[in-house]
Amino acid sequence: MAQLLITGGAGFLGSHTCLVLLEAGHQLLVLDDFSNSSAISLERVAELAGVPLQRDQPTLKATLEAFTLVEGDIRDTQCLDALFTSAKAFGQPIEAVIHFAGLKAVGESVQQPLRYWDVNVVGTQRLLTAMNFHHCRTIVFSSSATLYGYPHPNQIPIPETAPIQPINPYGASKHAAEALLADLAGCSGKPEPIQASSGGWRIARLRYFNPVGAHPSGRIGEDPNGIPNNLFPFITQVAVGRRPELTVFGDDWPTPDGTGVRDYIHVMDLAEGHREALHSLLNSDPQLLTLNLGSGQGASVLDVVKAMEATSQRAIPHRIAPRRPGDAAITVANPTLAAQQLHWRTQRSLTDICRDGWAWQQDNPNGYGEACL
Ligand code: WQD
Repeated sequence: MAQLLITGGAGFLGSHTCLVLLEAGHQLLVLDDFSNSSAISLERVAELAGVPLQRDQPTLKATLEAFTLVEGDIRDTQCLDALFTSAKAFGQPIEAVIHFAGLKAVGESVQQPLRYWDVNVVGTQRLLTAMNFHHCRTIVFSSSATLYGYPHPNQIPIPETAPIQPINPYGASKHAAEALLADLAGCSGKPEPIQASSGGWRIARLRYFNPVGAHPSGRIGEDPNGIPNNLFPFITQVAVGRRPELTVFGDDWPTPDGTGVRDYIHVMDLAEGHREALHSLLNSDPQLLTLNLGSGQGASVLDVVKAMEATSQRAIPHRIAPRRPGDAAITVANPTLAAQQLHWRTQRSLTDICRDGWAWQQDNPNGYGEACL
């Protein structure tokens, strides 16, 4: 199996993907600055996988174990160089990278565009520079459906060939990082989602729809900083009594019940999709893959509220408020290409999402930290 570098591996998506990759037998070197995550998530991943977690420095003072965590910033070129150099010195060169490290709150990106471009674009550029220098040219990139902006109704469910029209700095920064990857692959300006690449680069750009839920053990899950921006963690925090009520942003959308419709994908399905994308790249000729990772099913805000009430047997108090700037009515994936290319589809339902998300929140009312209510 492969020695992998997982940037942002202590985060929500990263921790669940680390677990799936350890269970697949890969060796993981995780880089995370804990700006929006906790090392506790990986201590629990180690428990679940039965693999000890080693904490180390970028120069890897100790031997390179199966699961090593280094604290560091993706923009720190010396840290990146030390990781690749040290892994090579231990005879376990990094064969591929899964790049989660980045900022991902739409509203925050509008307030802090420079920070979002620095972390998401400059950070990605510096990672790719280090990879290129150390002849590591296989990467799975954490992209987003946010790139599609306001999808045209005749483009729903959304295919990978839909127009790219980001409407906020978060989406624009992901679009820029995707463009850099296409330039590296010698595929600049070619919109085809699957194409041969040059320079030996094997690249998968995975566009997530709405990642939600938690590992069924309840030991790892989503732990947003402060007041959740996203619907699902807000709902679980209301159910567990950490928030008094949910604000529903608009019930006048052109949807069946008037509330926003999204494609909610269980985080374990997403983690397995990353495993399949990595294995596809490792076993293929140089190529640039661009794939939507979603269920292809839409659920409204009120659908999610009702599903969580049924699962938790708790009322979810909610009030209707005006629409949130930047929202679209409906965002649902066309997942056909990922099914064809990776032989992967989502396996878990909205009920599974609510069951697992509720188990996590009940067992961890304050997430990984001792955050106050
Ligand atoms: C979902 C629906 C809201 C909160 C975001 C970002 C991006 C992406 C996925 C990674 C919408 C409604 C929400 C609330 C509400 N992740 N809502 N009350 O905006 O679809 O996408 O997550 O790339 O981070 O694009 O997700 O969960 O914020 O909103 O009514 O308190 O829930 O209006 O209809 P979104 P969301």
